[in-house]
Amino acid sequence: MPNKFWENKKVLITGHEGFLGSWLARALLKRGAAVIGVDKVINRPISILEDSRRNIICVKGDVADMRLINRIIARHKPEVIFHLAAEAIVGEANKKPVKAFKSNIEGTWNILEASRNKKFIEAVVIASSDKAYGAHKKLPYTEEASLKGAHPYDVSKSCADLLAYTYFNTYNVPVCITRCGNIYGEGDFHFSRLVPDAIRCAITNETLLIRSDGKFIRDYVYIGDIVNGYIMLAERMVKKGIYGEAFNFSNEDPISVLGLTKKIYRSANKKLNCKVINKARYEIKKQYLSAKKARRVLGWKPVYSLDRGLTLTINWYKKIFRQI
Ligand SMILES: NC(=O)c1ccc[n+]([C@@H]2O[C@H](COP(=O)([O-])OP(=O)(O)OC[C@H]3O[C@@H](n4cnc5c(N)ncnc54)[C@H](O)[C@@H]3O)[C@@H](O)[C@H]2O)c1
Repeated sequence: MPNKFWENKKVLITGHEGFLGSWLARALLKRGAAVIGVDKVINRPISILEDSRRNIICVKGDVADMRLINRIIARHKPEVIFHLAAEAIVGEANKKPVKAFKSNIEGTWNILEASRNKKFIEAVVIASSDKAYGAHKKLPYTEEASLKGAHPYDVSKSCADLLAYTYFNTYNVPVCITRCGNIYGEGDFHFSRLVPDAIRCAITNETLLIRSDGKFIRDYVYIGDIVNGYIMLAERMVKKGIYGEAFNFSNEDPISVLGLTKKIYRSANKKLNCKVINKARYEIKKQYLSAKKARRVLGWKPVYSLDRGLTLTINWYKKIFRQI
C-alpha cells in the first residue's frame, strides 16, 4: 500500500540547501510533502536540488535569528521540522568557535523554543552527530554513551543534543535526535571532507593530502540510507509516539581513512596518489557507531554497501567536473 503519510504534510527543513537538507527536501517533495526551507545560503551552484528548488518555499536567513524562526513557524505552521542547519565542518568550527556555537547551539534552542506549545507540530528531528559523544574507549558507540564533546564542533553538538532532550523532558516538545556517522554521497559541496576531496583529486589527478595519519577509523554511510533513516524516524515518531529518544545511524562497517582512500581510487580506476600530512588536531582517533537501536525500534537498515555508494557518488562527481 502506498504510504500517504507525507502527502500535503507541511515540513520545515533548516539547512535545506546543504548536503543532507537538499536530499531530504527532494525525497519529501517526491512523497508529496509541502516543503519550507530556511538556509543562510540559497541557490547553491553545486546541488542535487536543481529544478525541485522551485517547489520549495525558500527563506534566506539565519537560524540564530529568533524572530525569523518564530515568524516562519507562525506563518507556515509546519507539522514536522527537520533541524539540520549547522556549521557542519570541524575545521571551520575550530577557526570560528563563536560563529559555530551561534549556529549550532543558539540555532537549535531557537527551533526548540519556537516549537514549544505549538499543537500543530507533530515531530521535531534534531541533527546531532557521532561527534556529540566525544571520545570513548568502548566501541562501537551506543546511544547510552555519555555526551562529552571536547572541541568546538563536538561540544556544539553535545549541547544541541542535550537541549533537544530537555525540551522533550521538561516541555513535552515532540523531539527525537539523530546521531550519524560520516555521511557521503552525491551533492556534498564540502571538498574539505575526505570523500569529495579524494574523488576530486582522483578525477583531476591532483595529489590528495590526508590531514590525519591515515589510521583514524570511522564509519561512512551513504546519504540515501540516511535520508531513509530521517524519514522513517519522523513517521515512527508520529505513528508510534516515539519521543525523547536518540538514534545512531551507521552502516556498521568501520574503515580507516587510508583504507577508504584506496577504495575510492580503485572505484575511480585511478592509481593511488596521496600524501599523509598528519596535521589533524583535536580529532577523535577511533569512532564508529552501533545502529542496533535504529534497526530494532525503527526497522531501519542501510541498503547501500560502501562499494555501491562510492560508485554512485564518483559517477555524479565525474559529471559535475565535466560541467565546470
Ligand atoms: N555530513 C555528515 O557527515 C554529518 C554527520 C553527522 C551529523 N551531521 C549533521 O547533519 C546536519 C547537516 O549536515 P550537512 O552535511 O548537510 O552540512 P551542510 O554544511 O552541507 O549543510 C548545512 C546547511 O546549513 C546551512 N547553515 C549553516 N549555518 C546556518 C545558520 N546559522 N542559519 C541558517 N542556515 C545555516 C548551511 O548554509 C548549509 O546549507 C548538520 O547539523 C551536521 O552537523 C552531518
